[in-house]
Amino acid sequence: MALNPPLNRKLRMGIVGGGIGSFIGRVHTIAAALDHRCELVAGAFSSNPEKSKQSAPDYGVDESRAYGSYEAMLDAESRLPADQRIDFVSVTTPNHTHFEIAKAAVEAGFNVVCDKPMTLDLDQAEQLLKTVENSDVVFALTHNYTGYPLIRQAREMIMAGELGKINAIRTQYIQGWLAEKLEATEHKQAAWRTDPAKSGVAGAFGDIATHAFNLGRYVTGELPDKVSCHLKAFVDGRRLDDYGTAVIRYKSGALGTVTASQISHGRENDLEIEVDGTLGSLRWRQENPNEMIVRKNGQPHQIYTRDPNADFTKPLAASSSRIPAGHPEGFFCAFANIYLAAFDDMAKRAEGQPFERRDTVYPNVYDGVEGMMFIEQCVKSSEQDAAWLTLSHSAART
Ligand SMILES: NC(=O)c1ccc[n+]([C@@H]2O[C@H](COP(=O)([O-])OP(=O)(O)OC[C@H]3O[C@@H](n4cnc5c(N)ncnc54)[C@H](O)[C@@H]3O)[C@@H](O)[C@H]2O)c1
Repeated sequence: MALNPPLNRKLRMGIVGGGIGSFIGRVHTIAAALDHRCELVAGAFSSNPEKSKQSAPDYGVDESRAYGSYEAMLDAESRLPADQRIDFVSVTTPNHTHFEIAKAAVEAGFNVVCDKPMTLDLDQAEQLLKTVENSDVVFALTHNYTGYPLIRQAREMIMAGELGKINAIRTQYIQGWLAEKLEATEHKQAAWRTDPAKSGVAGAFGDIATHAFNLGRYVTGELPDKVSCHLKAFVDGRRLDDYGTAVIRYKSGALGTVTASQISHGRENDLEIEVDGTLGSLRWRQENPNEMIVRKNGQPHQIYTRDPNADFTKPLAASSSRIPAGHPEGFFCAFANIYLAAFDDMAKRAEGQPFERRDTVYPNVYDGVEGMMFIEQCVKSSEQDAAWLTLSHSAART
């Protein structure tokens, strides 16, 4: 098959973030390149121009395309000939910078792959939605857990009615790394995540509950109606929540819970979803992502494995696997699946072909708006003693 049909060439990536010592930027570069459909050619790797230059050799990016700022990158790349300039910008910086970078990239005509939470607040998210809608760019949001084959299998089974009517959706994302006041040390990632000016109105809820909420939405397609939430900062002097639970009423009558913790000793990245339907229940954990358990009363429990060749595997789940069952696939592969689906649309756009903008395989700007609404309403509800607040946004995908 030709590369990125109908474009038939590699896509060119420019990254913002990913400098020495950072976390998710490096993951983006690996995930984007996993299937040989793109190459990293440019970057504004750090807010510090010196550090940005120093980071470029790590990625094999030419010095001439290691920029001192994202503005310089967008400006210089826009002026390069079309057969050299970047096709898309990956935004992998702390939350408070997403809006200005993503907006500028969209306005300059570049496709965007942005990390979550999409913006610092809902107002910015709604503005970004308008900017994207007024453009013709591809906009993907890396709620990367939706890229796991068995998560896609769960969604396809639920959409096919195999679990019956959905009654309950329990999600949780449990970590322990902030059980001590790490932000009082030199720990960079802890510092910005616990600073309201950089993280936003929420701590754990903005950082990880948003993934769990999105996973419930993706897997079941249920539309949220109302939310009631309790948030708390258990670590003395911490300015943002490090623990909380939200209860969600869905429009169909289903009930959901989202629990997030960053203070549970020894817990790593325990993202879990359980769905109860009238015909069966399923459970998946990202720390064991190649298995999913489906249970029906009176029957033996079924363990689904990530098997692209099995008859029980649904089409999107099958095409989301790269290697035979039994070989562990994980975080990078799921992340790469978000990029792959976005690349399909980027290639179409580059060739002037139409592509889906709202109901995309990958999470997009609409999911980003919904995620920001979730975060803001959870914080507001918690401030009002867990009052029930609306969680219904007109931008939500149906
Ligand atoms: N999808 C996921 O699974 C996942 C996981 C971790 C983090 N994240 C998200 O990714 C983002 C980054 O998180 P992280 O943990 O990698 O942070 P980090 O602190 O490890 O890295 C951030 C990087 O961005 C750079 N940077 C900051 N401002 C910049 C600017 N204006 N221009 C260029 N570079 C700039 C920093 O120098 C650093 O290299 C956050 O929004 C976070 O929520 C997502």
